[in-house]
Amino acid sequence: MSGKIDVREIDALVDAQNGRITPAIYTDSALYELELERVFGRTWLFLCHESQIPKAGDFFNTYMGEDPIIVARQKDGSIKAFLNQCRHRAMRVSFADCGNTRAFTCPYHGWSYGIDGSLKDIPLEDRAYPHGACKQEWGLLEVTRVKSYKGLVFGCWDETTPDLEEYMGDMAWYLDGVLDRRPGGTVIVGGVHKWEIECNWKFAAEQFASDQYHALFSHASAVQVLGAKPDDDSTKTLGAAQTARPVWETAKDAIQFGSKGHGSGFFFTEKPDANVWVDGEVANYFRETFDEVKERLGEIRALRLAGHNTMFPTLSWLNGTATLRVWHPRGPNKTEVWAFCICDAEAPQEVKDAFERSATRAFGPAGFLEQDDSENWVEIQKVLRGYKARQNKLIVEMGKGSEKVREDGVPGITSYIFSETAARGFYRRWADLLIHKDWEDVEKATEAYEKELVK
Ligand code: FES
Ligand SMILES: [Fe+2]
Repeated sequence: MSGKIDVREIDALVDAQNGRITPAIYTDSALYELELERVFGRTWLFLCHESQIPKAGDFFNTYMGEDPIIVARQKDGSIKAFLNQCRHRAMRVSFADCGNTRAFTCPYHGWSYGIDGSLKDIPLEDRAYPHGACKQEWGLLEVTRVKSYKGLVFGCWDETTPDLEEYMGDMAWYLDGVLDRRPGGTVIVGGVHKWEIECNWKFAAEQFASDQYHALFSHASAVQVLGAKPDDDSTKTLGAAQTARPVWETAKDAIQFGSKGHGSGFFFTEKPDANVWVDGEVANYFRETFDEVKERLGEIRALRLAGHNTMFPTLSWLNGTATLRVWHPRGPNKTEVWAFCICDAEAPQEVKDAFERSATRAFGPAGFLEQDDSENWVEIQKVLRGYKARQNKLIVEMGKGSEKVREDGVPGITSYIFSETAARGFYRRWADLLIHKDWEDVEKATEAYEKELVK
């Protein structure tokens, strides 16, 4: 591919029916440009958590795709988001990661904008613009739609995109398992870890949607270490994956969910501490709050303290481990990872501290599980630099045909956890967004695809 794209060619890149993916989707620069327009230009993208900007004048700098975005708390308590780009000559007007301010002043020539984005001051205005400056029209470009969902703030450029909750669909049920455990909701604790990895963003986002399968092998050594108890000599006699039997083989059931490009996976466990990645205060906290959470969310979600999730396209999180992350695209071959630690607002401070430590230890930039994951993606990206390697389609057909709708209250299209149902749905949604200009057609394509899965 590369050069000018015929959208009809995109359909063939993602053969979801047969489970085949053409490697160009991870490497092609023309496809990447189209992604910025049609995926990042019109899906709901996570901006920040409300707890990060509690007071008027608080702001948080982030990105929508590659576009720098300022999210700012207004005087009336509402939240607005703006393109972080001076209207004069395109300079960035805000550089701090976050803070509190009355104005964003461009460092180039000094134009100054209020927290509502309006252009307040132009140095030497009278002499520099003798015919008058159009200050009313030269405010920061405002993100068309900003909406919160239980503390998470999302932005969208496109007026025709379905409303946030419709866009989330059944994924909201899975997200509520993190956001709605206790009446006070959630907060972000600590700062944001930010680092770059040399791979396409879709490897990360899709894996968090769909791939529990890798954990058996890629995380085997970590599981061996964490799963071992002082009085347990199983690590000496069993392979690492076997050491993990308590989670992966003794769970009553396990599912993968996939719909509208979103995905999730988890095991049905029997005790509220079935998460080997956390310990100490965090595990105790989960046990202590179990009855309350069960009352609010039901047993399945109260027990769900492990599991992976992606809300299409780039918001991922892990239950229990409390990591929430965004995969910001940085060209076809690079991703900027932003990892937040999210936990219940009502958790005591020492538990919040423990959450932060455990999320950092496992999934910070040097986290032992993070390293296991990203090494795979980075190596695949390197392999795909080869001409021959790029001719071989990836096989994404695990669990094909096993999709069903459950009757136990777990919503949406599901399959066994070790499948690639959510991956096929993720790439199909991606392709349909690139192909169709109208959201109506995107939704129709998704509906038709999903109807076939469970007919
Ligand atoms: S680019 Fe901002 S004031 Fe000139
Ligand atoms: Fe992993």
